[in-house]
Amino acid sequence: MIVKICIGSSCHLKGSYDVVEGMKEMLRKYDVEELIELQASFCFGQCADGVVMRTEEALDGSADVFVRGVNKDNIEEKFLTEVYPRLGLPQP
Ligand code: FES
Repeated sequence: MIVKICIGSSCHLKGSYDVVEGMKEMLRKYDVEELIELQASFCFGQCADGVVMRTEEALDGSADVFVRGVNKDNIEEKFLTEVYPRLGLPQP
């Protein structure tokens, strides 16, 4: 599965760098580095809701989704509720 993280100027100001680092930590913590590829993306056109991530090619077959309002404080919650379930694995 691919998770694209917006590094456009608005999301950058809202902490894209922290979100990228936080996602790397989540992949390590939940041992899914082999299952999720992180990619940087330019603006998704949803700057008011940044930092924005987008899941693509979900392993559970679900549609691509945007994950909005991600920051270093809520990243684990966002990861567990909006990203991890798309791997088709039992909840950790
Ligand atoms: S800069 Fe991230 S959605 Fe526009």
